[in-house]
Amino acid sequence: MSIPPRHFISLLDLTSDEFRFLIQRAIELKNKRDPDYQPLKGKVLAMIFEKSSTRTRISFEAGMAHFGGSALFLSPRDTQLGRGEPLQDSAKVISSMVDCIMLRTNKHEMVTTFAQHSRVPVINGLTDTQHPCQLLADMQTYFEHRGDIKNKLVTWVGDGNNMCHSYIHAAMLLDFQLHIACPVGYQPDPAFVTAAGSRVKLFNSAKEAAMGSDLIVTDVWASMGQEEEQRQRELAFKDYQVNTEIMRVAHKNALFMHCLPAHRGEEVSADVIDGAQSVIFDEAENRLHAQKALLEFLLCIQ
Ligand code: CP
Ligand code: NVA
Repeated sequence: MSIPPRHFISLLDLTSDEFRFLIQRAIELKNKRDPDYQPLKGKVLAMIFEKSSTRTRISFEAGMAHFGGSALFLSPRDTQLGRGEPLQDSAKVISSMVDCIMLRTNKHEMVTTFAQHSRVPVINGLTDTQHPCQLLADMQTYFEHRGDIKNKLVTWVGDGNNMCHSYIHAAMLLDFQLHIACPVGYQPDPAFVTAAGSRVKLFNSAKEAAMGSDLIVTDVWASMGQEEEQRQRELAFKDYQVNTEIMRVAHKNALFMHCLPAHRGEEVSADVIDGAQSVIFDEAENRLHAQKALLEFLLCIQ
């Protein structure tokens, strides 16, 4: 019997020490790029995208190239997956030919089922309930700008979505306090909140949630697949914009993050996202470094 592969489907697939190790390794890889270091020479990453992507696709593809490997972009429209080939069969076939598989899917269960039948590591590149790769980059960005996030206060403003769920996991692993301000009906899944215990607190008021915070984070009001709810969500979220009023009540050294793409004038005002406290472009660039650390961890260290 061969040893089952190590997957990265949720942040909770990592221990706290492993998460911290990946952050430090990502910073190291960013600061010292060695073109001769090619630990993934000859290795292939398959990337299955059911939804659009700029950052995730480019960072994984560039990361594999930097490490001497290559990446395949697979859209379900162009593969037999889109014509109903069973997931189990696809997982067995694809994993017999490549060294790692990244999936961005609608349903989270699609990634978990795929992983059960894959003989190589599976990475979650975003599902309807989680976006763990983005948290590797966000936490790297916080550590680079402000040092350890342990015992700091982070405030999530807006939708209790996939990003919010992964922030809850990050709070559990890195031991920070998380305030979540969402309108009624858009709160995170209670199972995530309960699992995190007293580290996570829900608020109705964005301003109250942001008081004294070290990091303010938001995301789009309508995620991919929710485009038809845009109008209804604009009404529900109108009091949940991150603007100067919110940043004013946060700690004076607070950072602002957004996983992007963003809608200026909706979830965040232009002066905040383009202002001095915003680190959105470091956050985006760090997808590359953090995922290189992840690929190395899954394919070389495990
Ligand atoms: N933040 C993020 O995952 O961006 P993409 O949708 O462009 O990959
Ligand atoms: N919550 C957003 C994140 C995009 C990176 C979405 O799922 O569309």
